Amino acid sequence: MKFSAVILAAGKGVRMVSRQPKVVHQAAGKPMICHIADAVKEAGVNDITVVVGHSKEIVQEVLADRDVRFAVQEQQLGTGHALMQAEGSIDPDGTVLVLTGDTPLLRAGTIKKMLDFHQQQKATATILSAVINNPYGYGRILRNPDNSFDRVVEEKDAREEEKKIQEINSGIYCFDIAAVFAALKKLGTSNAQGEYYLTDVLEILKNNQRQVAVLLHDDVEELYGVNDRVQLSWAENKLRQRKNIELMENGVTIMDPRSTYIDKDVIIGRDTIIYPNTIIEGQTEIGESCEIGPSTRINSSVIGHGVVIETSRIKQAQIDDDCNIGPFAYLRPETVLKHGVKVGDFVEIKKSVIGVKSKIPHLSYVGDALVGEGVNIGAGTITCNYDGKNKYQTILEDKVFIGSNTNLVAPVTVKRNSMTGAGSTITRDVPEDSLAIERAPQKVIKDWKKKKED
Ligand code: UD1
Ligand code: CA
Repeated sequence: MKFSAVILAAGKGVRMVSRQPKVVHQAAGKPMICHIADAVKEAGVNDITVVVGHSKEIVQEVLADRDVRFAVQEQQLGTGHALMQAEGSIDPDGTVLVLTGDTPLLRAGTIKKMLDFHQQQKATATILSAVINNPYGYGRILRNPDNSFDRVVEEKDAREEEKKIQEINSGIYCFDIAAVFAALKKLGTSNAQGEYYLTDVLEILKNNQRQVAVLLHDDVEELYGVNDRVQLSWAENKLRQRKNIELMENGVTIMDPRSTYIDKDVIIGRDTIIYPNTIIEGQTEIGESCEIGPSTRINSSVIGHGVVIETSRIKQAQIDDDCNIGPFAYLRPETVLKHGVKVGDFVEIKKSVIGVKSKIPHLSYVGDALVGEGVNIGAGTITCNYDGKNKYQTILEDKVFIGSNTNLVAPVTVKRNSMTGAGSTITRDVPEDSLAIERAPQKVIKDWKKKKED
Protein backbone atom coordinates (compact mmCIF):
# COMPACT_ATOMS: atom_id res chain seq x y z
CA MET A 1 0.00 0.00 0.00
CA LYS A 2 1.13 3.52 -0.75
CA PHE A 3 1.56 5.81 2.28
CA SER A 4 1.98 9.52 2.56
CA ALA A 5 2.06 11.60 5.73
CA VAL A 6 0.65 14.95 6.77
CA ILE A 7 1.96 16.69 9.88
CA LEU A 8 -0.26 19.44 11.27
CA ALA A 9 1.86 22.35 12.46
CA ALA A 10 0.01 25.57 11.69
CA GLY A 11 -1.02 26.45 15.24
CA LYS A 12 0.65 29.11 17.37
CA GLY A 13 0.84 27.21 20.64
CA VAL A 14 -0.33 30.08 22.84
CA ARG A 15 0.52 28.25 26.05
CA MET A 16 4.25 28.29 25.22
CA VAL A 17 4.21 32.10 25.78
CA SER A 18 6.80 32.49 23.04
CA ARG A 19 7.66 34.56 19.99
CA GLN A 20 8.44 31.25 18.26
CA PRO A 21 5.75 28.84 17.05
CA LYS A 22 5.37 25.85 19.37
CA VAL A 23 6.63 23.13 17.02
CA VAL A 24 10.09 24.71 16.54
CA HIS A 25 10.88 24.60 20.25
CA GLN A 26 13.65 22.11 20.85
CA ALA A 27 13.54 18.91 22.86
CA ALA A 28 16.89 17.13 23.28
CA GLY A 29 18.57 19.48 20.82
CA LYS A 30 16.08 19.09 17.99
CA PRO A 31 12.92 21.04 17.09
CA MET A 32 9.78 19.05 17.96
CA ILE A 33 8.60 19.12 14.36
CA CYS A 34 11.88 17.51 13.25
CA HIS A 35 11.48 14.71 15.79
CA ILE A 36 8.16 13.85 14.15
CA ALA A 37 9.37 14.21 10.58
CA ASP A 38 12.39 11.99 11.32
CA ALA A 39 10.25 9.33 13.03
CA VAL A 40 7.88 9.24 10.03
CA LYS A 41 10.83 8.77 7.65
CA GLU A 42 12.37 6.12 9.86
CA ALA A 43 9.04 4.28 9.69
CA GLY A 44 9.45 4.19 5.90
CA VAL A 45 7.08 6.99 4.86
CA ASN A 46 9.02 9.48 2.77
CA ASP A 47 6.25 11.49 1.18
CA ILE A 48 5.61 14.14 3.84
CA THR A 49 3.51 17.30 3.73
CA VAL A 50 3.69 19.72 6.65
CA VAL A 51 0.74 22.07 7.13
CA VAL A 52 2.14 25.43 8.21
CA GLY A 53 0.46 28.73 9.01
CA HIS A 54 1.40 30.68 12.10
CA SER A 55 5.01 31.97 11.63
CA LYS A 56 5.28 29.62 8.68
CA GLU A 57 8.69 30.93 7.58
CA ILE A 58 10.23 29.84 10.88
CA VAL A 59 8.74 26.35 10.64
CA GLN A 60 9.81 26.02 7.00
CA GLU A 61 13.31 27.15 7.91
CA VAL A 62 13.87 24.44 10.55
CA LEU A 63 12.62 21.80 8.08
CA ALA A 64 14.67 23.16 5.18
CA ASP A 65 17.03 20.18 4.86
CA ARG A 66 14.43 17.47 5.43
CA ASP A 67 12.83 17.01 2.01
CA VAL A 68 9.21 17.73 2.95
CA ARG A 69 6.51 19.68 1.12
CA PHE A 70 4.45 22.45 2.66
CA ALA A 71 0.76 23.28 2.51
CA VAL A 72 -0.33 26.60 3.95
CA GLN A 73 -3.28 27.09 6.29
CA GLU A 74 -3.70 30.87 6.28
CA GLN A 75 -6.20 30.96 9.14
CA GLN A 76 -6.13 28.35 11.86
CA LEU A 77 -9.71 27.16 11.78
CA GLY A 78 -9.10 23.77 13.37
CA THR A 79 -7.35 20.44 12.79
CA GLY A 80 -9.92 19.31 10.18
CA HIS A 81 -9.45 22.54 8.25
CA ALA A 82 -5.67 22.05 8.50
CA LEU A 83 -5.83 18.63 6.85
CA MET A 84 -8.08 20.03 4.07
CA GLN A 85 -5.21 22.33 3.05
CA ALA A 86 -3.04 19.31 2.23
CA GLU A 87 -5.46 17.93 -0.37
CA GLY A 88 -3.57 19.34 -3.35
CA SER A 89 -0.22 18.21 -2.00
CA ILE A 90 -0.80 14.48 -1.60
CA ASP A 91 -1.45 11.73 -4.09
CA PRO A 92 -5.22 11.00 -4.06
CA ASP A 93 -4.64 7.24 -3.89
CA GLY A 94 -3.52 5.21 -0.95
CA THR A 95 -3.34 5.91 2.74
CA VAL A 96 -2.41 9.02 4.66
CA LEU A 97 -0.84 9.07 8.08
CA VAL A 98 -1.84 12.23 9.97
CA LEU A 99 0.19 13.44 12.93
CA THR A 100 0.59 16.57 15.02
CA GLY A 101 3.79 18.54 15.35
CA ASP A 102 3.86 18.50 19.14
CA THR A 103 4.41 14.83 20.07
CA PRO A 104 8.22 14.52 20.02
CA LEU A 105 8.30 11.21 21.92
CA LEU A 106 6.52 9.20 19.24
CA ARG A 107 8.71 6.33 18.01
CA ALA A 108 9.12 5.08 14.44
CA GLY A 109 8.25 1.56 15.63
CA THR A 110 4.85 2.74 16.85
CA ILE A 111 4.12 4.40 13.51
CA LYS A 112 4.99 1.15 11.73
CA LYS A 113 2.82 -0.84 14.10
CA MET A 114 -0.05 1.50 13.33
CA LEU A 115 0.38 1.25 9.54
CA ASP A 116 0.39 -2.57 9.80
CA PHE A 117 -2.66 -2.60 12.06
CA HIS A 118 -4.55 -0.29 9.69
CA GLN A 119 -3.89 -2.68 6.79
CA GLN A 120 -4.72 -5.82 8.75
CA GLN A 121 -8.02 -4.32 9.91
CA LYS A 122 -8.84 -3.19 6.36
CA ALA A 123 -10.03 -0.03 8.08
CA THR A 124 -10.96 3.26 6.42
CA ALA A 125 -9.62 5.09 9.47
CA THR A 126 -7.47 4.06 12.42
CA ILE A 127 -6.95 6.12 15.56
CA LEU A 128 -4.05 5.64 17.93
CA SER A 129 -5.34 5.83 21.51
CA ALA A 130 -4.00 5.35 25.04
CA VAL A 131 -5.39 5.10 28.55
CA ILE A 132 -3.92 7.74 30.82
CA ASN A 133 -4.33 8.69 34.47
CA ASN A 134 -4.96 12.35 33.88
CA PRO A 135 -6.77 12.70 30.54
CA TYR A 136 -7.52 16.41 31.06
CA GLY A 137 -7.23 18.41 27.84
CA TYR A 138 -7.33 15.49 25.40
CA GLY A 139 -10.19 14.35 23.22
CA ARG A 140 -11.79 11.22 24.72
CA ILE A 141 -12.66 8.05 22.81
CA LEU A 142 -16.33 7.07 23.23
CA ARG A 143 -17.07 3.42 22.53
CA ASN A 144 -20.33 1.56 21.86
CA PRO A 145 -21.57 -1.17 24.24
CA ASP A 146 -19.95 -3.76 21.93
CA ASN A 147 -16.67 -1.85 22.42
CA SER A 148 -16.55 -0.60 18.81
CA PHE A 149 -15.65 3.05 18.13
CA ASP A 150 -18.43 5.57 18.54
CA ARG A 151 -16.87 9.06 18.37
CA VAL A 152 -14.31 11.43 19.87
CA VAL A 153 -15.42 14.18 22.20
CA GLU A 154 -13.13 17.14 22.94
CA GLU A 155 -12.49 18.23 26.53
CA LYS A 156 -14.33 21.51 25.94
CA ASP A 157 -17.39 19.74 24.51
CA ALA A 158 -17.48 16.83 26.94
CA ARG A 159 -20.18 16.24 29.52
CA GLU A 160 -19.15 15.49 33.09
CA GLU A 161 -19.38 11.70 32.73
CA GLU A 162 -17.49 11.81 29.40
CA LYS A 163 -14.66 13.72 31.11
CA LYS A 164 -14.14 10.68 33.34
CA ILE A 165 -13.18 8.54 30.33
CA GLN A 166 -9.46 7.85 30.44
CA GLU A 167 -8.99 6.59 26.89
CA ILE A 168 -7.64 9.55 24.90
CA ASN A 169 -7.18 10.40 21.23
CA SER A 170 -3.47 10.79 20.49
CA GLY A 171 -4.19 12.95 17.42
CA ILE A 172 -2.38 10.38 15.24
CA TYR A 173 -4.43 8.63 12.56
CA CYS A 174 -4.38 6.63 9.33
CA PHE A 175 -6.99 7.38 6.69
CA ASP A 176 -8.00 6.14 3.30
CA ILE A 177 -7.22 9.31 1.35
CA ALA A 178 -10.28 9.43 -0.93
CA ALA A 179 -12.62 8.72 1.99
CA VAL A 180 -11.13 11.29 4.37
CA PHE A 181 -11.20 14.19 1.89
CA ALA A 182 -14.79 13.34 0.98
CA ALA A 183 -15.73 13.33 4.68
CA LEU A 184 -13.81 16.58 5.37
CA LYS A 185 -16.16 18.35 2.93
CA LYS A 186 -19.03 17.55 5.27
CA LEU A 187 -17.43 19.00 8.41
CA GLY A 188 -19.19 21.74 10.33
CA THR A 189 -18.11 24.01 13.17
CA SER A 190 -20.96 23.63 15.63
CA ASN A 191 -18.87 22.88 18.70
CA ALA A 192 -17.53 24.70 21.76
CA GLN A 193 -14.54 26.14 19.87
CA GLY A 194 -16.29 26.90 16.57
CA GLU A 195 -13.55 24.96 14.74
CA TYR A 196 -13.41 22.30 12.05
CA TYR A 197 -12.47 19.31 14.21
CA LEU A 198 -10.61 16.55 12.42
CA THR A 199 -12.01 14.21 15.06
CA ASP A 200 -15.54 14.70 13.65
CA VAL A 201 -14.45 13.05 10.40
CA LEU A 202 -14.24 9.76 12.28
CA GLU A 203 -17.90 9.94 13.22
CA ILE A 204 -18.88 10.87 9.65
CA LEU A 205 -16.99 7.85 8.30
CA LYS A 206 -18.52 5.53 10.87
CA ASN A 207 -22.01 6.79 10.05
CA ASN A 208 -21.29 5.97 6.39
CA GLN A 209 -20.66 2.36 7.42
CA ARG A 210 -16.92 2.74 7.00
CA GLN A 211 -14.74 0.89 9.43
CA VAL A 212 -13.02 3.01 12.08
CA ALA A 213 -10.46 1.03 14.06
CA VAL A 214 -8.79 2.04 17.33
CA LEU A 215 -5.28 0.90 18.17
CA LEU A 216 -4.81 1.13 21.93
CA HIS A 217 -1.15 1.82 22.57
CA ASP A 218 0.39 0.77 25.88
CA ASP A 219 3.36 3.16 26.05
CA VAL A 220 1.39 6.22 27.07
CA GLU A 221 4.45 8.48 27.30
CA GLU A 222 5.05 8.33 23.60
CA LEU A 223 1.78 10.04 22.86
CA TYR A 224 2.16 12.99 25.22
CA GLY A 225 1.46 16.26 23.47
CA VAL A 226 3.58 19.25 24.49
CA ASN A 227 1.47 22.36 25.02
CA ASP A 228 3.56 24.37 27.49
CA ARG A 229 7.14 24.60 28.72
CA VAL A 230 6.59 22.36 31.72
CA GLN A 231 5.53 19.59 29.37
CA LEU A 232 8.46 20.47 27.09
CA SER A 233 10.97 19.93 29.90
CA TRP A 234 9.28 16.64 30.69
CA ALA A 235 9.56 15.47 27.07
CA GLU A 236 13.17 16.67 26.99
CA ASN A 237 13.99 14.59 30.03
CA LYS A 238 12.36 11.47 28.57
CA LEU A 239 14.17 11.86 25.24
CA ARG A 240 17.51 12.20 27.04
CA GLN A 241 16.88 9.13 29.17
CA ARG A 242 16.08 7.19 26.01
CA LYS A 243 19.25 8.38 24.28
CA ASN A 244 21.45 7.47 27.24
CA ILE A 245 19.90 3.99 27.44
CA GLU A 246 20.33 3.44 23.69
CA LEU A 247 24.02 4.40 23.95
CA MET A 248 24.63 2.20 26.99
CA GLU A 249 22.97 -0.72 25.23
CA ASN A 250 25.40 -0.16 22.38
CA GLY A 251 28.53 -0.27 24.53
CA VAL A 252 29.05 3.29 25.79
CA THR A 253 29.70 3.74 29.53
CA ILE A 254 27.82 6.69 30.98
CA MET A 255 28.97 7.15 34.54
CA ASP A 256 26.09 9.36 35.67
CA PRO A 257 23.19 9.43 33.18
CA ARG A 258 21.36 12.03 35.26
CA SER A 259 24.04 14.63 34.61
CA THR A 260 24.77 13.64 31.01
CA TYR A 261 22.93 15.41 28.19
CA ILE A 262 23.37 13.89 24.74
CA ASP A 263 21.37 15.08 21.73
CA LYS A 264 19.36 12.59 19.73
CA ASP A 265 21.51 12.57 16.59
CA VAL A 266 24.87 12.17 18.36
CA ILE A 267 26.82 9.01 17.47
CA ILE A 268 29.25 7.46 19.99
CA GLY A 269 31.39 4.34 19.50
CA ARG A 270 31.69 1.48 21.94
CA ASP A 271 33.98 1.44 24.96
CA THR A 272 33.89 5.21 25.13
CA ILE A 273 33.39 6.48 28.68
CA ILE A 274 31.38 9.61 29.38
CA TYR A 275 32.13 11.20 32.76
CA PRO A 276 29.55 13.29 34.66
CA ASN A 277 28.33 16.80 33.79
CA THR A 278 28.92 16.38 30.10
CA ILE A 279 26.83 17.86 27.28
CA ILE A 280 27.20 16.54 23.74
CA GLU A 281 25.14 18.39 21.16
CA GLY A 282 24.14 18.60 17.50
CA GLN A 283 25.62 16.34 14.84
CA THR A 284 28.58 15.24 16.95
CA GLU A 285 30.27 11.95 16.17
CA ILE A 286 32.67 10.33 18.66
CA GLY A 287 34.69 7.18 17.98
CA GLU A 288 35.51 4.15 20.11
CA SER A 289 37.49 3.99 23.35
CA CYS A 290 37.44 7.72 24.08
CA GLU A 291 37.23 9.35 27.51
CA ILE A 292 35.02 12.41 27.54
CA GLY A 293 34.47 14.69 30.55
CA PRO A 294 33.87 15.37 33.33
CA SER A 295 32.32 18.81 32.76
CA THR A 296 32.81 18.96 29.02
CA ARG A 297 30.58 20.51 26.37
CA ILE A 298 30.94 19.46 22.75
CA ASN A 299 28.86 20.53 19.82
CA SER A 300 28.77 19.47 16.19
CA SER A 301 32.28 18.03 16.19
CA VAL A 302 33.85 14.92 14.69
CA ILE A 303 36.10 13.04 17.09
CA GLY A 304 38.12 9.92 16.28
CA HIS A 305 39.05 6.87 18.38
CA GLY A 306 41.05 6.87 21.61
CA VAL A 307 40.64 10.60 22.22
CA VAL A 308 40.75 11.97 25.78
CA ILE A 309 38.94 15.25 26.46
CA GLU A 310 38.84 16.50 30.03
CA THR A 311 36.85 19.52 31.28
CA SER A 312 36.85 21.39 27.98
CA ARG A 313 34.65 23.23 25.48
CA ILE A 314 34.70 21.97 21.89
CA LYS A 315 32.75 23.71 19.12
CA GLN A 316 32.57 22.48 15.51
CA ALA A 317 36.04 20.99 15.59
CA GLN A 318 37.60 17.93 13.99
CA ILE A 319 39.79 15.81 16.25
CA ASP A 320 41.62 12.78 14.85
CA ASP A 321 42.55 9.58 16.73
CA ASP A 322 44.57 9.56 19.95
CA CYS A 323 44.48 13.28 20.68
CA ASN A 324 44.64 14.43 24.29
CA ILE A 325 42.80 17.60 25.21
CA GLY A 326 42.41 19.63 28.39
CA PRO A 327 41.76 20.16 31.14
CA PHE A 328 40.35 23.62 30.37
CA ALA A 329 40.92 23.78 26.62
CA TYR A 330 38.68 25.78 24.27
CA LEU A 331 38.53 24.56 20.67
CA ARG A 332 36.55 26.87 18.41
CA PRO A 333 35.07 26.36 14.93
CA GLU A 334 37.29 25.11 12.11
CA THR A 335 39.91 23.71 14.42
CA VAL A 336 41.44 20.50 13.05
CA LEU A 337 43.69 18.38 15.24
CA LYS A 338 45.52 15.65 13.34
CA HIS A 339 46.52 12.31 14.83
CA GLY A 340 48.03 12.32 18.33
CA VAL A 341 47.94 16.06 19.02
CA LYS A 342 48.20 17.27 22.61
CA VAL A 343 46.34 20.41 23.66
CA GLY A 344 46.80 21.20 27.33
CA ASP A 345 45.35 23.53 29.93
CA PHE A 346 44.10 27.04 29.13
CA VAL A 347 44.73 26.75 25.41
CA GLU A 348 42.35 28.35 22.91
CA ILE A 349 42.50 27.33 19.26
CA LYS A 350 40.46 28.86 16.44
CA LYS A 351 40.37 28.08 12.70
CA SER A 352 43.70 26.29 12.71
CA VAL A 353 45.10 22.97 11.57
CA ILE A 354 47.52 21.33 14.02
CA GLY A 355 49.67 18.60 12.44
CA VAL A 356 50.37 15.05 13.59
CA LYS A 357 51.82 14.74 17.12
CA SER A 358 52.24 18.46 17.64
CA LYS A 359 51.88 19.83 21.16
CA ILE A 360 50.39 22.98 22.60
CA PRO A 361 50.63 22.06 26.25
CA HIS A 362 49.84 25.24 28.21
CA LEU A 363 48.36 28.75 28.17
CA SER A 364 48.30 29.63 24.46
CA TYR A 365 46.10 31.30 21.87
CA VAL A 366 46.42 29.86 18.36
CA GLY A 367 44.19 31.45 15.71
CA ASP A 368 44.28 31.28 11.89
CA ALA A 369 47.38 29.06 12.02
CA LEU A 370 48.74 26.19 9.98
CA VAL A 371 50.91 24.07 12.23
CA GLY A 372 52.96 21.21 10.78
CA GLU A 373 53.96 17.86 12.27
CA GLY A 374 55.96 17.41 15.47
CA VAL A 375 55.76 21.09 16.40
CA ASN A 376 56.07 22.17 20.04
CA ILE A 377 54.49 25.43 21.05
CA GLY A 378 55.83 26.64 24.40
CA ALA A 379 53.70 27.89 27.28
CA GLY A 380 52.19 31.33 26.90
CA THR A 381 52.66 31.57 23.12
CA ILE A 382 50.21 33.79 21.28
CA THR A 383 49.45 34.20 17.59
CA CYS A 384 48.79 37.92 17.09
CA ASN A 385 46.39 37.30 14.22
CA TYR A 386 44.29 40.45 14.30
CA ASP A 387 45.25 44.07 13.71
CA GLY A 388 41.86 45.46 14.62
CA LYS A 389 40.62 45.18 11.04
CA ASN A 390 41.85 42.00 9.38
CA LYS A 391 42.92 38.50 10.36
CA TYR A 392 46.27 37.07 9.21
CA GLN A 393 47.78 33.60 9.06
CA THR A 394 50.65 32.11 11.04
CA ILE A 395 52.49 29.15 9.49
CA LEU A 396 54.70 26.90 11.62
CA GLU A 397 56.33 24.22 9.47
CA ASP A 398 57.25 20.67 10.60
CA LYS A 399 59.45 20.22 13.69
CA VAL A 400 59.41 23.87 14.67
CA PHE A 401 60.01 24.63 18.36
CA ILE A 402 58.41 27.82 19.63
CA GLY A 403 59.99 29.04 22.88
CA SER A 404 57.75 29.95 25.80
CA ASN A 405 55.94 33.25 25.70
CA THR A 406 56.59 33.94 22.02
CA ASN A 407 54.38 36.45 20.18
CA LEU A 408 53.92 35.42 16.56
CA VAL A 409 52.81 38.58 14.74
CA ALA A 410 50.92 37.38 11.66
CA PRO A 411 51.31 37.12 8.75
CA VAL A 412 54.45 35.21 9.64
CA THR A 413 56.07 31.87 8.79
CA VAL A 414 58.58 29.87 10.80
CA LYS A 415 60.17 27.35 8.45
CA ARG A 416 61.10 23.71 9.08
CA ASN A 417 63.14 22.78 12.07
CA SER A 418 63.58 26.32 13.41
CA MET A 419 63.29 27.68 16.93
CA THR A 420 62.26 30.91 18.54
CA GLY A 421 63.81 32.11 21.77
CA ALA A 422 61.57 32.40 24.82
CA GLY A 423 59.91 35.78 25.15
CA SER A 424 60.53 36.82 21.52
CA THR A 425 58.14 38.87 19.41
CA ILE A 426 58.51 37.40 15.92
CA THR A 427 57.48 39.82 13.19
CA ARG A 428 59.47 38.51 10.20
CA ASP A 429 59.67 35.07 8.57
CA VAL A 430 62.25 32.67 9.98
CA PRO A 431 64.23 30.50 7.52
CA GLU A 432 64.82 26.75 7.99
CA ASP A 433 67.09 25.30 10.70
CA SER A 434 67.53 28.67 12.45
CA LEU A 435 67.03 30.30 15.81
CA ALA A 436 65.10 33.57 15.87
CA ILE A 437 65.50 35.59 19.02
CA GLU A 438 64.19 39.06 19.69
CA ARG A 439 65.09 40.15 23.14
CA ALA A 440 66.85 43.15 24.67
CA PRO A 441 70.13 42.08 26.20
CA GLN A 442 69.78 41.49 29.92
CA LYS A 443 71.11 44.33 32.00
CA VAL A 444 72.52 43.65 35.45
CA ILE A 445 73.06 46.55 37.80
CA LYS A 446 75.43 45.46 40.47
CA ASP A 447 75.01 46.37 44.13
CA TRP A 448 71.48 47.64 43.39
CA LYS A 449 70.22 46.83 46.89
CA LYS A 450 73.09 48.51 48.65
CA LYS A 451 72.76 51.69 46.56
CA LYS A 452 69.07 51.91 47.43
CA GLU A 453 69.80 51.63 51.12
CA ASP A 454 72.34 54.49 51.04
C1 UD1 B 1 -6.16 17.61 19.28
C2 UD1 B 1 -7.39 16.70 19.09
C3 UD1 B 1 -7.65 15.92 20.39
C4 UD1 B 1 -6.40 15.12 20.75
C5 UD1 B 1 -5.18 16.02 20.83
C6 UD1 B 1 -3.93 15.17 20.98
C7 UD1 B 1 -8.89 17.84 17.53
C8 UD1 B 1 -10.13 18.64 17.38
N1 UD1 B 1 -8.54 17.51 18.77
O1 UD1 B 1 -6.48 18.55 20.29
O2 UD1 B 1 -8.75 15.05 20.22
O3 UD1 B 1 -6.60 14.48 22.00
O4 UD1 B 1 -5.03 16.81 19.63
O5 UD1 B 1 -2.80 15.94 21.22
O6 UD1 B 1 -8.28 17.49 16.55
N2 UD1 B 1 -3.25 22.72 14.09
C9 UD1 B 1 -3.23 23.25 12.83
N3 UD1 B 1 -4.22 24.10 12.43
C10 UD1 B 1 -5.27 24.40 13.22
C11 UD1 B 1 -5.30 23.85 14.53
C12 UD1 B 1 -4.28 23.00 14.92
O7 UD1 B 1 -2.30 22.99 12.06
O8 UD1 B 1 -6.13 25.16 12.80
C13 UD1 B 1 -2.16 21.82 14.52
C14 UD1 B 1 -1.36 22.40 15.66
O9 UD1 B 1 -0.26 23.16 15.20
C15 UD1 B 1 -0.90 21.13 16.41
C16 UD1 B 1 -2.00 20.12 16.06
O10 UD1 B 1 -2.70 20.62 14.95
O11 UD1 B 1 0.34 20.64 15.95
C17 UD1 B 1 -2.96 19.89 17.22
O12 UD1 B 1 -3.55 21.10 17.58
P1 UD1 B 1 -3.90 21.44 19.09
O13 UD1 B 1 -4.53 22.77 19.12
O14 UD1 B 1 -2.74 21.19 19.97
O15 UD1 B 1 -5.04 20.33 19.34
P2 UD1 B 1 -5.54 19.81 20.73
O16 UD1 B 1 -6.46 20.80 21.34
O17 UD1 B 1 -4.40 19.34 21.52
CA1 CA C 1 -2.04 19.41 21.45
